[in-house]
Amino acid sequence: MAYAAGVDVGSTQTKAVIINEDGEIVSRSLTDTGANVVQAAEKSYQMALENGSLEEREVEYVIGTGYGRYRVTFGNTQVTEISCHARGAAHMFPNTRTVLDMGGQDTKAIRITDSGEIFDFCMNDKCAAGTGRFLGAASAALDIPLPDLGSTALKAERPVRISTTCTVFAESEVLSWLGKGKKIEDILWGVHQSIASRSTGLLRRVGIEDEVTFTGGVAKNIGMIKALEESTGKKLNVSEDSHYMGALGAALFAMDHILSSRAPSDVVEEIA
Ligand SMILES: Nc1ncnc2c1ncn2[C@@H]1O[C@H](COP(=O)(O)OP(=O)(O)OP(=O)(O)O)[C@@H](O)[C@H]1O
Ligand SMILES: [Mg+2]
Repeated sequence: MAYAAGVDVGSTQTKAVIINEDGEIVSRSLTDTGANVVQAAEKSYQMALENGSLEEREVEYVIGTGYGRYRVTFGNTQVTEISCHARGAAHMFPNTRTVLDMGGQDTKAIRITDSGEIFDFCMNDKCAAGTGRFLGAASAALDIPLPDLGSTALKAERPVRISTTCTVFAESEVLSWLGKGKKIEDILWGVHQSIASRSTGLLRRVGIEDEVTFTGGVAKNIGMIKALEESTGKKLNVSEDSHYMGALGAALFAMDHILSSRAPSDVVEEIA
């Protein structure tokens, strides 16, 4: 059995996935990227090998993706995260036509064709307003851990309308609402709605076509799923592995390479 790996070095978190020849995930790992990008890539790959009880030599091809893809020094090649998220999403949800990847720093909207090719994509500009960073600022200001943000926001009864679109000012706006006596859940739901509305704007630019698949770490946030479903009017595909979608896509491209570079005699032998 051949194995292939994908390592997605994101601006915030690094994900590694190892798959088998059937495209099934046999192992995954997640670590913070931090300041040492090379080390984060190495660490996440080693953790994935360990989690799958695999030796490095058993993995025939490794592809790096994400903003730090050129720092995956042990990788065989690199593929952009747009291609990898699209590939992962189409593998997990074959009817995917639109992908929304919300990461720590960037939000990307991608349209794919029936055959899984990239048709169009767009991403937020340098501003981190509609991204995980904005949520991170709100989490810090309100002292609510990231994993609890979504469930807290869903308790809102009278949502606050967040007017700033700038992450730098998000914290002070959140604090000023707190000072005016607004409830934490009402402020948080407002933050989620504001991010969802910006992301829906990005999605509209590429076209919101069924089915829409939500990827990236923010897909773990149930409040953001709900806010996006309200603002797009669509039910989103979300998987337990949404955070790993880019790494999965990279691993699938790596497996393509392994299978296509096999000598025809190997294939005949295996069929026999
Ligand atoms: N358990 C969790 N609950 C809620 N949100 C989470 C959770 N884990 C991660 N996140 C969110 O996901 C973000 C990281 O997502 P991801 O790993 O996709 O980003 P990245 O790939 O590093 O960034 P980018 O693609 O922008 O370079 C965090 O900033 C955080 O907002
Ligand atoms: Mg990413």
